[in-house]
Amino acid sequence: MSYLTLDGLAKHFGDFTAVDGLSLAIEKGEFLSLLGPSGCGKTTTLQMVAGFVDPSRGRIVLDGQDITALRPEKRGMGVVFQSYALFPHMTVAENVGFGLEMRKVPRAERDKRVAETLELVRLGGLGGRHPKALSGGQRQRVALARALAIRPAVLLLDEPMSNLDAKLREEMHIELRGIQKHLGITTILVTHDQVEAMTMSDRVAVMHGGRIVQLGTPFDAYERPQSAFASTFLGQTNTVAGSVVATHERCCEVALGASAAPDARRMFVPHEGQRYAGRVDVYLRPERIQVVQVGQGIDGRVATRVFLGSHWMLEIDSAVGRLRVSQPNVGAVPPGEGTAVGLRWTDDDARLLHAEAAHGR
Ligand SMILES: Nc1ncnc2c1ncn2[C@@H]1O[C@H](COP(=O)(O)OP(=O)(O)O)[C@@H](O)[C@H]1O
Ligand SMILES: [Mg+2]
Repeated sequence: MSYLTLDGLAKHFGDFTAVDGLSLAIEKGEFLSLLGPSGCGKTTTLQMVAGFVDPSRGRIVLDGQDITALRPEKRGMGVVFQSYALFPHMTVAENVGFGLEMRKVPRAERDKRVAETLELVRLGGLGGRHPKALSGGQRQRVALARALAIRPAVLLLDEPMSNLDAKLREEMHIELRGIQKHLGITTILVTHDQVEAMTMSDRVAVMHGGRIVQLGTPFDAYERPQSAFASTFLGQTNTVAGSVVATHERCCEVALGASAAPDARRMFVPHEGQRYAGRVDVYLRPERIQVVQVGQGIDGRVATRVFLGSHWMLEIDSAVGRLRVSQPNVGAVPPGEGTAVGLRWTDDDARLLHAEAAHGR
C-alpha cells in the first residue's frame, strides 16, 4: 500500500477549477515531482497536502489515516516555500528550532536537533546569524533545515530553488537529493523546471490544467510521452505530421507530410499495442536524429547551427519540414549553415500519437 494517497483531489475557486480530480499514490521514501507550467495547479495541490488549502473534493490519506480535515500542524509535514518565509528577527538556530518549540520539545533536545540539522545542510556554526546576514543559497538551506528539524513524515518543497542562480541550483539538486536519500524521507517537489524534476525524482507527474497528464520515472516519461504536451514539456521534440497507411504486427506504416500521396516518405513507427488510424503525429527527439553524408537518409540543408558547449543544436530543413537536431560535442565541428546533409534515424527512435492529442489536454 502506498504511504501518501491523493484521491480525486479537486479545488475550485468560484467557477475556476485549479485542481481537477487529481489522484496519486506515493511510496514511503519516494521523491516525486509535480512538474508543469505556471498556473497548472501545482502549488494548490501541495497546499492541500500541507493543509493550508481545503480541497473542494477528494481525500488525502497518510499512512492509512485520512488527514483531509486535519489541521496543518497535526499532519507532521515539513514545508519549504518558494519565498523561504524565514523569520527575519530570529537567528538561524531560532528559525530552525521554531517547529520544535511549537511542538514543546524540551530545550536540550531542541538544541541538539537544531545543531544536527544545521550540520546536515552544511550550515554548522552559523546558528547565531540572522537571515539577512546570509547568502541566498544559505537562506535556502535554513528553510530546508527548518522543515527537516521536526523530522517530518513528508517533505513538501514548492519551487525551493527558483531564487538561486543556475550553478548553485545545479549543486543544490544533487545535494538535496543526497539528503533526501540519506533520511529516506518521502518528498513532493513542485517545479516548472524539467531538469530539476528529472535530476532529483524517482517519479515525475507532469501536470496540465489541474490534472496529471503523465506519470512515471524520468526516463519512461521522457521516452514514452503520452501527449504532445508531455513530450514538449519534458525536453524538446520534433513533430512531423503524417497518416497511417498500414498497420503491421509491431509498427504502423506512416506516410509523412500533410498528405498521404503515393510518393510521400514512408516510415515504420512502433505502435506499442495502441491502435492508430488516419492523422497522426510522429515525434522525434533532437538527439535521436543523426547527421550523415548527403545522399544517405533523407535530404536536408543546415539552416542554423549553434554551439552549446556539451552539444551542438542544428536546425535542418528537410522534405518533412524543419527539424531540430542535437549533436554531442565530440571535438569535431558539424556541417555549417547552408550545407547539404543527410538525416537518419531508426524507426525505434520515433514515437506515435494521435494527431488530436496535440490539441487536447
Ligand atoms: N486563492 C485563489 N483564488 C483564486 N484563484 C487561485 C487561487 N490560488 C490559485 N488560483 C489560481 O489557480 C490556478 C493554479 O494556481 P497554482 O496552484 O498557484 O499554480 P502553479 O503553482 O502551478 O503555478 C492559477 O490560475 C491561479 O491563478
Ligand atoms: Mg506555484
